[in-house]
Amino acid sequence: MNLTVKNICCIGAGYVGGPTMAVIASNCPSIQVNLVDINKNRIKAWNEKNLNKLPIYEPGLSDLILKTRGVNLHFSTEIEKCITNADMIFISVNTPTKTKGIGAGKAVDLRWIESCARKIGEYSKGLTIVVEKSTLPVRTAQTIKDILKAYEDNNSKRHFSILSNPEFLAEGTAINDLECPDRVLIGGDEEYAIEALENIYLNWVEKEKILKTDIWSSELSKLIANAFLAQRISSINSISALCELTESNISDVSLAVGMDKRIGAEFLNAGPGFGGSCFKKDILNLIYICNHYGLTEVADYWEQVILINDWQKKRITKKIIEKLFGTLSNKRIAVLGFSFKANTNDTRESPAIDICKDFLEEGCNLSIYDPKVEKEQIFKDLIINSENYSKLETTDTIEKACLNSDAIIVMTDWQEFYKLDFLKLSKIMRKPRFIFDTRNVINLKEAKNFGFRIWNLGDGSFQ
Ligand code: NAD
Ligand code: UGA
Repeated sequence: MNLTVKNICCIGAGYVGGPTMAVIASNCPSIQVNLVDINKNRIKAWNEKNLNKLPIYEPGLSDLILKTRGVNLHFSTEIEKCITNADMIFISVNTPTKTKGIGAGKAVDLRWIESCARKIGEYSKGLTIVVEKSTLPVRTAQTIKDILKAYEDNNSKRHFSILSNPEFLAEGTAINDLECPDRVLIGGDEEYAIEALENIYLNWVEKEKILKTDIWSSELSKLIANAFLAQRISSINSISALCELTESNISDVSLAVGMDKRIGAEFLNAGPGFGGSCFKKDILNLIYICNHYGLTEVADYWEQVILINDWQKKRITKKIIEKLFGTLSNKRIAVLGFSFKANTNDTRESPAIDICKDFLEEGCNLSIYDPKVEKEQIFKDLIINSENYSKLETTDTIEKACLNSDAIIVMTDWQEFYKLDFLKLSKIMRKPRFIFDTRNVINLKEAKNFGFRIWNLGDGSFQ
């Protein structure tokens, strides 16, 4: 059997669906791509003329939208119609951790996946390839298969083939990650479906980079890749605390360790802890699966990655209180950066959220500057109520955030924080003025020359 895909529907126009479909549309002009979502506001924002108002900030994305939108990339809320017209359907909806019921706090909430499967069952026609793009617990494809099987019937020649095609993009570098992936992983058990998806990627990805496995290995590989990445961050963050106590420097240690080819240099930057919507939820899911299969020792091993991540955030708050003479009450801290990493407007699980909440709890005033995160998002994340409303402001410049502040805390590694104007800042901040750098972006010597007292994460060597 041969199938040439002419019409794709992607359900879920988020941080994965948006960039991924933009790259497919750009590289496959003969395929019509419809990106659908239940969130009307999100679709409206994707259709905004002003490209600065797209719902997602991602370098290079607006150029692709300009090139493809209205040509072969369409954003719509007409989910049923787009499903009916598609020969391949990507499921790219959110898969958060369950908040109640069995497995609450660990297992993945699959309600959005299940509702997509039912919709596909109801509205698709003929031969349909369903691609799991969302990150899912191993063996979820079986659930999707079971649901869709109920809709198959020989008379109308309806048939569904399920593929797992996890996404490995990182936010902030998504377009480059999609255009030049390290690998593309396709898991499946029907050759024609695997080939149809492979042929789409072959428009821009080398054949050698396309890895084909069974569905279960593909689903599991995605969870494990994220677990390994997060594990590296917790490993280096645990050592950052040791460096502070032994007059050594975490950047030097990372460099020396990472130059060993067997270890590798990437993902060894110490910081305030990993954020983002996936690392924590995917490891929690891994822990849940291990416990389910009776592998408690394995589950406990991976749990440490999360515990160290939480500990790192608390450790930073405590260190800052200690440095600021034991109290934050009525002090003002300028928070530079609120997104979970640079080059994204995403704040999900950002370490800045937990640390800022702790500051507010201690009675501190906060002025937060982030070049891409909206004020409404910051207020929403910090659950600002009438009690602490007056304690928080957001600003549109670094200087305004620092005005009359006692301290600066750098939370995100945005490029502009690498070259702060210490002369200007020294004139507008209160004395004694502090910088707490959780990302190692500050020029320490220069800042010290302008009278700043400095705490640099993982750096016990700076005097
Ligand atoms: P997201 O929250 O940004 O987007 C998901 C979208 O799906 C939302 O707009 C939501 O309205 C929509 N949606 C939910 N249920 C729907 C339904 N029944 N019908 C139509 N639309 C529906 O999430 P995301 O960050 O894009 O992540 C999606 C998946 O991809 C997750 O499983 C995540 O683990 C995985 N993933 C994310 C990243 C990342 O960097 N964000 C990278 C790789 C994989
Ligand atoms: C991560 C993975 O890198 C992607 O491969 C994966 O597809 C994605 O999760 C997912 O499944 O959602 P993302 O979370 O977007 O991507 O960004 P990362 O670059 O991995 O950063 C995650 C967090 O770790 C950020 O808070 C970042 O600041 C932190 N980090 C990263 C460090 O503290 N140190 C490092 O060396 C690297």
